[in-house]
Amino acid sequence: MPPPPRLHQLLVFFLVLLLLPLLSAIHMAPAASAGEGGVEEALLGLLQRVQSVALRALGARDFDPKLYVDLPLAADASAAAAAAALASLPRPAPSRGEMEAYISRYFAPAGSDLVAADPPDFEREPRGFLPKVESAAARAWALEVHALWKDLTRRVAPAVAVRPERHTLLSLPGRVVVPGSRFREVYYWDSYWVVRGLLVSKMYETAKDVTLNLVYLVEKYGFVPNGARSYYTNRSQPPLLSSMILDIYMATGDMVFVRRAFPSLLKEHSFWMSEVHNVAIMDNHGHVHNMSRYQAMWNKPRPESATIDEELASKLTSTAAKEQFYHQVASTAESGWDFSSRWMRDSTDMTTLTTSYIIPVDLNTFILKMEQDIAFFAKLIGESPISERFSEASKARYDAIESVLWNSDMDQWLDYWLPTDGNCQGIYLWKPNSQNRAIFASNFVPLWLNAQHSGLSCRRPLPVFVPMPGCIALFWEYLKLYGNIYQHIFHDLGVLF
Ligand SMILES: *[C@@H]1O[C@H](CO)[C@@H](O)[C@H](O)[C@H]1NC(C)=O
Ligand SMILES: *[C@@H]1O[C@H](CO)[C@@H](O)[C@H](O)[C@H]1NC(C)=O
Repeated sequence: MPPPPRLHQLLVFFLVLLLLPLLSAIHMAPAASAGEGGVEEALLGLLQRVQSVALRALGARDFDPKLYVDLPLAADASAAAAAAALASLPRPAPSRGEMEAYISRYFAPAGSDLVAADPPDFEREPRGFLPKVESAAARAWALEVHALWKDLTRRVAPAVAVRPERHTLLSLPGRVVVPGSRFREVYYWDSYWVVRGLLVSKMYETAKDVTLNLVYLVEKYGFVPNGARSYYTNRSQPPLLSSMILDIYMATGDMVFVRRAFPSLLKEHSFWMSEVHNVAIMDNHGHVHNMSRYQAMWNKPRPESATIDEELASKLTSTAAKEQFYHQVASTAESGWDFSSRWMRDSTDMTTLTTSYIIPVDLNTFILKMEQDIAFFAKLIGESPISERFSEASKARYDAIESVLWNSDMDQWLDYWLPTDGNCQGIYLWKPNSQNRAIFASNFVPLWLNAQHSGLSCRRPLPVFVPMPGCIALFWEYLKLYGNIYQHIFHDLGVLF
């Protein structure tokens, strides 16, 4: 057992774990190109047909279904002409050459509807950059990572706002930072780490742009979609918008920015409190708690992965079973943990995904934090009654998390599994054996919330989860499973944040 780490180190390590998928996405080879677009069902439907013909023409090897739904129409092409030409391609499948000729005739490259945008607040080595990092190697590496902002910052081409029906890409008002590779567009929860990184890089204006794009999406859709594509508008992602706004406010003190974003936070909160996401559960003492779950508004294959989803569903026989599976797949994508045995009744079988019947530790903690953040901002801008209301809501959710999800034998919070034979209406009765005793990083997310408090506790006298010593030790053991390489990264990154 290594010396017990300090709490904030654990939390940074946890953040790093969450960051890894993003880092690995950044380090993947750059994608061929890009095309994104629109809003119109018609274009998306056409692109899905192109996708399935392409699968027949090119074969399943190295096939990326997302590429096809990202294609914008070529400047001189119409959707009707592209549809007609698709219908006249040779059957049962065109050759590779015929397929490629068709695509380049009627479509522009995927990603070409995003244009380069030099972030004006980028400096090669910003003043006061990572003052605590002394190792020359670590500094050089951090500056390389920092320089990636220049590659990943774009703007949505003006043509997208003018003719949205020619793109699956959604138009956004400000500069965007994309994860990179095949992820050519903005993503919701990835943006949280993008913002954290931009703040480390002192790129405050870009961080505000990234966040205000999400605010714009809430104004338009009532929630932040999974990503800025028409095919992502039927599900959200882990709700970290309030965290982005808080972190930017703590770094800049910009009240105009807070006032601008505030109404969207209220709107997003209503989305997560709405019937789709709400679950009522009665604890052992007869208290009823309202909690939240992931649930996408979708029961078809995900357009960006349709060929994969259909293949997985092929062993299910009834239409109802397929729809239920597609619904769970999309709901799992909403969780940001796509995919993990965490959501499966049988960890070896993807078709047993049951995400919408699970009360997740992380989601409820994120919403608790959202409620605390809203209470804080409301007070800041002089909206005391709203502040009171959200302060009460956060206390209620804190109690709910402690009663429904805490497990004192295991010294951690556990996901709660609802019976799948109901439709999640009415009030569930809490049963001790319905907690999922498997250990996931998400079981420790409430500890992250405490770290968020430490800098704020003087301003926000709100409840804090008390981490049991056993819980911290367990968390450390869990992290050790990830091996030495992460400890090495941790060592250098531990001082960054
Ligand atoms: C999908 O989302 C769009 C935009 O938010 C909405 O208009 C549509 O009704 C949704 N579809 C379903 C099946 O809920
Ligand atoms: C739970 O939500 C329902 C529906 O929104 C509401 O009527 C009820 O008062 C809430 N219960 C608690 C304990 O907050």
